[in-house]
Amino acid sequence: MLQLKTAGYIALDNLRSRKCFPPVWQNMTELEKSTDEFISIFREERFNVSKELGGGYLFEEVIDRFVRTDDRELMDDSRIPEQERLESVKALERQNAFMQLYPRHIDILLPHIRQASERFRREVKILELASGSGGLALALASELKRKKFPARITGSDIVPSYIEESNRRTAGQNLPVEFMELNAFDMKRLGPDEFDIIITSQSMHHFSPGQLAVMIAQAGQHATTAFIGIDGYRSALLGLGVPFVAGLQAIPSFALDGLISARKFYSELELAIIAETAAGRHHHEVDCLWPLSVLTVHFN
Ligand SMILES: C[S@@+](CC[C@H](N)C(=O)[O-])C[C@H]1O[C@@H](n2cnc3c(N)ncnc32)[C@H](O)[C@@H]1O
Repeated sequence: MLQLKTAGYIALDNLRSRKCFPPVWQNMTELEKSTDEFISIFREERFNVSKELGGGYLFEEVIDRFVRTDDRELMDDSRIPEQERLESVKALERQNAFMQLYPRHIDILLPHIRQASERFRREVKILELASGSGGLALALASELKRKKFPARITGSDIVPSYIEESNRRTAGQNLPVEFMELNAFDMKRLGPDEFDIIITSQSMHHFSPGQLAVMIAQAGQHATTAFIGIDGYRSALLGLGVPFVAGLQAIPSFALDGLISARKFYSELELAIIAETAAGRHHHEVDCLWPLSVLTVHFN
């Protein structure tokens, strides 16, 4: 439930045959605007298709509309002191560890890292965007070190204190990881192909469709191989489950963020639309590895 695939595919075909998709763009500003506009048009068309299909299709669409929100998570609210927001990203790291998500992420990422290593025969360079308190980067770096794998990960986030905290945690551990401040929508300071794989975890739903498209298009300029986005799978079960699990830590703002996030997860088809708009057709796949959605965009 909440993936709305039947109505979604019909709606997308309708829009494609009317030449509305994919939207045309020349620069990042246009990409952001046209992706946001197209996703709104797509959701409207899907609603009309669901009305024609009727019954359960319309019921699911109405639930999806009721659930969806554009509210921002409190952890993204710059009016809240950084220290308080740091507590939220640390709570998210505890939740990820509790749900055993880091080994799942590593299983998803390692085949791509291995492929890049075989292709280039040198150290593979990975950049994580929006790395929060750094839990995934640290877990991946420990695994790379344990396996003596020639790869290095750079975690990055827009909030300076997360970077300081993450660098403090890694100090003296001799792990193949470092952290730097970086705005995921503005990667100009990176060199062309400075990295091989750019990843982001539990964050895609924090960004508007247009922002996510910009992130993917920019990743294509700075990574040789792929963009991999891992996020919660849009579903009724996670709609209830994420806020419930977040509530277990008894931190009200974090529990509320869990509820907002679960309402905002993208459907598989929405992720595919955003990827195609940013990187063209046939360059991406979206997989459900329950409870995760995995978007992979290939650049080569
Ligand atoms: C839900 S947290 C995910 C943190 C981490 N990936 C994890 O799974 O624990 C979202 C992160 O996105 C970061 N963020 C928000 N806007 C950003 C931007 N423009 N550039 C980089 N990071 C950003 C926030 O600071 C926050 O750390």
